[in-house]
Order: sequence, then structure tokens, then C-alpha cells
Amino acid sequence: MNAILHAYEVTKEEDMVEPLDYNRRSRMKNFDKCFKAEITNIIRLTEMEKLFQLRMINEDDKNRFTFLPGQFVMLELPGYGEVPISISCSPSIKSIIELCIRKAGKVTEALHKAKRGAVVGIRGPFGTHFPMEKMKKNNVLLIAGGLGLAPLRAPMTYVIENRADFKDVHIFYGAKDPTQLLFDYQYEQWHRIDDINLQIIVEKPDELWTGPVGLITKLLDDIAIDPDKTYAIVCGPPVMFKFVCNRLKDMGVPMQRMFVSLERRMHCGMGKCCRCNIGSTYTCLDGPVFDYWSVMNLKEAI
Ligand SMILES: Cc1cc2nc3c(=O)[nH]c(=O)nc-3n(C[C@H](O)[C@H](O)[C@H](O)COP(=O)(O)OP(=O)(O)OC[C@H]3O[C@@H](n4cnc5c(N)ncnc54)[C@H](O)[C@@H]3O)c2cc1C
Ligand code: FES
Repeated sequence: MNAILHAYEVTKEEDMVEPLDYNRRSRMKNFDKCFKAEITNIIRLTEMEKLFQLRMINEDDKNRFTFLPGQFVMLELPGYGEVPISISCSPSIKSIIELCIRKAGKVTEALHKAKRGAVVGIRGPFGTHFPMEKMKKNNVLLIAGGLGLAPLRAPMTYVIENRADFKDVHIFYGAKDPTQLLFDYQYEQWHRIDDINLQIIVEKPDELWTGPVGLITKLLDDIAIDPDKTYAIVCGPPVMFKFVCNRLKDMGVPMQRMFVSLERRMHCGMGKCCRCNIGSTYTCLDGPVFDYWSVMNLKEAI
């Protein structure tokens, strides 16, 4: 008897309950390459977060390394390990890559002790991106809570640099207290940009704080939007983006027009190690950027 299965005996694709949409996955670039980069500048943002500016050591790598807003890199600190970090700068600047990094554990603590001139490794960029092209000619809400401003900074700079392509632009940022606000040295500059509504809110003000107080959803009370002509990017801890997205849903914004970035523990960043799976979805390949509708349909995603 022939033990080989004939094609007609194999389960047909139509029978699959939920076939994966491979077209939605990110296209991997440079997965076979670890770029060497030098830390050229370090800016302390808060007690726990620092901004690292990196420059490719090899001139050719400056052109080879391009990314889209929302993508991340695997950052290697030789002798310590590798961590996934969102790229937190404008995709149009080729020479510098900025990463805003919170001191969380082994690798990031070692990185916080690094000095200018230290050499690190970079793989990537990896992951899906925010659909900036699709958002053009629409209103855009860019909303971040806490460290969420790190991944939001790339789409935000994209919108600022291409301001004429978008209709109303609102940038809302919330933190627990004024000491935890990231990039506060840039607010004045952002406020000066024409026709952008930038609002910053804190939950616990200090005596010097003159801005709004409360949860970030409070800022949505004061705006009128046409929900069918609005896209939203919401970055922050799951509890925050869940509240914000549900509020936007109540305002009539379709869930497919809201985008969030999911974080999972990652090792390879390229669909090999199965560390980042949520069911059959790989956060590193199918994400980290998902529309909110997909997130709500992913069991245990948040
Ligand atoms: C796509 C993506 C983008 C990211 N972007 C940024 C960024 O821009 N800036 C930034 O500071 N961090 C970012 N992170 C989180 C960052 O990767 C982790 O903080 C880092 O891996 C911790 O490594 P460590 O060796 O310092 O800490 P570890 O010693 O490995 O862990 C310290 C603690 O952090 C927890 N932890 C580790 N990784 C994660 C994770 N992915 N999610 C939740 N908890 C975690 C561990 O459970 C442990 O409690 C991102 C993560 C992902 C997946
Ligand atoms: S991080 Fe290895 S499969 Fe996603």
C-alpha cells in the first residue's frame, strides 16, 4: 500500500477555520545583517528614560537602513543581550536613529550606563507600520500615554513634516505627573507648529503645573471630529489604549481606523522563536502595529 498522501487527501484550504492573512505581515529587511552603530548622544528625559542617538558606523549602511513609522529594531548590547525597541524619530532623517529607552531590566539597565562612543548592534527594522499614506486627506488623532510617546514620535514627526497632506491634527499626551513627561524640551517647538492642536495632561500635577489635569480621555471631550474622516494612532499601556479606543468608538470612529502598537516579549523579531505569539499571530511579524478591530479579535491580546 502506498503511504504517500495524494493531493486530494490533504485538507483543502477552504476547510481551514481562520486562514492567516500573510499579505498583512511585515516584509522583512536586513534580517541577515547586524548593523554596527555608535551612540553619538544621550539625553536624559526622566529618571527612568533616556534618548539614545545612534549613527551607523559604515557609510553604506546609512542608505541601507530605512524604516517606516511604527517599526522597531532589535538592539544588541554586546555581552548583555538584545531587546526590541521602537524607532522614535523621523523616517526622513537617514543619518541618525533615535531610541527612547526605559530602564527595565538586564539589558536596558546596562544600556543606561553606556557612554557616548559605545558601539551597539542593530537588526531590522522589523514589524508592521502605521498606514500613514492611507491616513492622508483625513483628520489624525495622535494619542500617547507615558512611554507610548516613544513609538508615537515617528508617526508624529511624519505628520508634522507632511502637514499639508492631513486635515485636522490633534496630538494628545498624558503622563502620571510632570516628572514623567518625555521630550518636554520639545513642547514649545511643537506648540509653534501651525495648525496642530497639542495638549498635554497629567494625573497628579505639581505646584508649577498650569495645564489640564486628569486622564487622557478627558482631552477627547473638547474636540469635534467627523468620525468617518478620522484616523487615530494610540500608543501606551494596554489599559490606556483600551480606554481611549473605546471612547473613540463611542464617538463613532470605526475600529479599523484606530491603530495601536502591541508589546510582547521578543527574542528573534523575525518569526523564528515563537516567543511573541498570540495564538497563530506573531507580534513581531503580524504586528506590533495592529488596527484595534484585529486586537479585539485576538484572544488574550490585551
Ligand atoms: C515591539 C516592541 C517595541 C518596544 N519599544 C520600546 C521602546 O521604544 N522603549 C522602551 O523602553 N521599551 C520598549 N519595549 C520594551 C523593551 O523591549 C523591554 O523593556 C526590554 O526588552 C526589557 O529588556 P531588559 O533586558 O532590560 O529587561 P528584562 O530583564 O528582560 O526584564 C525586566 C522586566 O521587564 C519585563 N519585560 C521585558 N520585556 C517586556 C515586554 N516586551 N513587554 C512587557 N514587559 C517586558 C520583564 O517581564 C521583567 O519584569 C518594546 C518592546 C517591544 C516588543
Ligand atoms: S520574536 Fe521570535 S517569533 Fe516573534
